[in-house]
Parts: sequence; C-alpha cells; structure tokens
Amino acid sequence: MIVLGVESSCDETGIALFDSKKGELAHRVYSQIELHRQYGGVVPELASRDHINRAIPLIDKTINDAKINKKQIDAIAYTAGPGLLGALLCGGSIAQSLAFSLDIPSLGIHHMEGHLLAPLVDKQSPPPTLPFVALLVSGGHTMLVLVKALGKYKILGSTLDDAVGEAFDKTAKLMGLPYPGGPELAAMAEKGNPSAFSLTRPMINRPGLDFSFSGLKTQVRRLIEDEKNHDKADIAASFQKTVVDTLLIKCRRALQETSTKSLVVSGGVGANKVLREKLGGYCKKNHISLHIPPHHLCTDNGLMIAHVGALRFSQAKKDYAIDCKARWSLEDLTPI
Ligand code: KG4
Ligand code: ZN
Repeated sequence: MIVLGVESSCDETGIALFDSKKGELAHRVYSQIELHRQYGGVVPELASRDHINRAIPLIDKTINDAKINKKQIDAIAYTAGPGLLGALLCGGSIAQSLAFSLDIPSLGIHHMEGHLLAPLVDKQSPPPTLPFVALLVSGGHTMLVLVKALGKYKILGSTLDDAVGEAFDKTAKLMGLPYPGGPELAAMAEKGNPSAFSLTRPMINRPGLDFSFSGLKTQVRRLIEDEKNHDKADIAASFQKTVVDTLLIKCRRALQETSTKSLVVSGGVGANKVLREKLGGYCKKNHISLHIPPHHLCTDNGLMIAHVGALRFSQAKKDYAIDCKARWSLEDLTPI
C-alpha cells in the first residue's frame, strides 16, 4: 500500500510517499527558514500562507520523483497536531481535498508519533526493541517518552519552559548569531573550551525527568554582559556542554528507572554532534542500543507522517472533516 504524507505543523512543508513493503519512495521538504530569518523566529501567519503556496507543487514533484501515478496512492496521512493551528489547517485542507478528489481514505497523524517511530522508517537499519525510551528534542519540544508498544506511550518528562532547540536558538540570538542559531552555536562551540565556564545544569539534583532551559539562557546572558569580554566560542562550548550533560543525565535516569535497553533520539537537536557522541559513548559502555535516524528523518518531514499513516492504515476513513489540534497528548493515542 502507498501512503502520501503531508507535514505542515511549523515552518517546513514536508511531502513524502511511503510504500508499506518497499519503504521510502520519495520525499521532499521545503524549509521556510529564509522567510522567517528577518523576524528572528517563526511568524505563524506567514508560515500558513507559505504552506499554501508550496504544498501542491511539492506534491506534484514528489509523485514525479517516485515515478508513480497519483491513482496508485492508497491513502493520505497529514499532521493533525500538535503544532501551529493555522499551519496545520493549511496542510490538512490540502490533504483532505486531494483525498476527496481521489476518492481514497485519509487520516490525521500525531506529529510526535511521527518523530518517535522515525527509526522504523528505514527498513535496512535494525529497529529498536520494545519497550524503548525516546528523547525528542526539537525547537518546539523536549520530552522523554516510554514507548511500551506501538501507539502506547507514557510521557516520562518534558520541559517546564523553553524547548532545548529554542534554548539553543535564543542563546545564539544573544550571541548575535542568525536564526535558527542552534547549528551556528554548535559550530562556534567547536572552537571553544567547554570547561571555560561552569554553568548550572538545570534540575539535575531534583528527582524526576522534567527539564528547564530558560535559566541557562539567563546564565549565558550574564556572561555576555560581563565586562570581562569573554571569548564567545568558550561561552558557546560551555553552554552546549551543559545542555548535553543535562540531556545525558536525564536519559540515563529514564533508562534506569524503566529498565529499558534501547534509546531513540529524534528531532532537530538530534543532529548535534556532541550530543550524538556523548550518548553514543554512554550507550556503548552500558550495552544500550542507540537509534538516531539520519538527519533528514530527525528534522520535520513528510516521510515520518506517511510511515505512521501506513502503520495506522486501518484507521483511515473517507471522512474529509479537517480535525487539527494545536495541543494533543501522545498519551491519548490508540494502540496500533
Ligand atoms: O525538529 P526541528 O527541525 O523542527 C522543530 O522544531 O520542530 O528542530 C529544529 C531545532 C532548532 O531549534 C535548531 O536550532 C535545532 O533544532 N538544531 C540544533 C542543531 N541542528 C538543529 N541544535 C543544536 N545543535 C545542532 N547541530
Ligand atoms: Zn518536529
């Protein structure tokens, strides 16, 4: 069965075709970063308008890339939440209109379930064994989730304020780097000394698995405002080390508390080299299998949505109401 996936929860229009037997057929992503850069963050109204402009040509190109006829598509899966409501509604209405015109069923997918199951998309790499712990780290989310079975999720912890990607971006902005500053700050950190400043690792001395990153940003602001004119690369490296150490401590705690032996990392911050190295070292030493999808599957994309659409195909309906939600808990999903 072939599923078309449509992702539009934030500032990426992602379109993909996934075959339940063959895997990925084609995928394309249009990133709106340039559009939002001048504002230093995502402007929701502009994001919605751009999804409308980009989605249909992108669907045509993706069908072309896959060398199939659109009549071969069996179902359409679209991101129904959580995310920016206007952006979700744009992708949702395009997906539903196309499903209606092709007379095929459709279904709304939870964006975070797409991220959680992204390591299962590539049929060549060994899948994580269930149950597993997943660390989802992006510009909008930071959470630790216990995946008991496909569709059965328990949120172990999440951020009380900024998401980790947001903390990278806001800290980078304080340092005068362009949006989105996460990768820029990481590049700058490579030239700095991570032990130059001892920053407080947020919430590690408290029990539990929640995160908080806004205080860390304030610590960096104080360093920047300090009259001593510290080296920015040292500040970047110290910030990155503190974030990575905090994530590692919480992952270790989650794996120990749940007695699980597999860890999945997904979301844009999963691209961070130091995070990958530190988690890789820890997992190797402790016989934990680590699964980090390739970069194009870590960041927002239509493939992870088409993939969950194929897994949940039995729930697809010829009901073309557009049911998008800005907030939606992973724990409310039904088992697959
Ligand atoms: O998952 P994603 O592409 O989009 C959503 O937020 O949903 O994640 C983007 C976030 C941004 O905050 C970006 O700065 C951060 O991921 N990011 C990084 C790196 N690459 C992307 N943060 C730290 N180090 C990186 N190498
Ligand atoms: Zn995402």
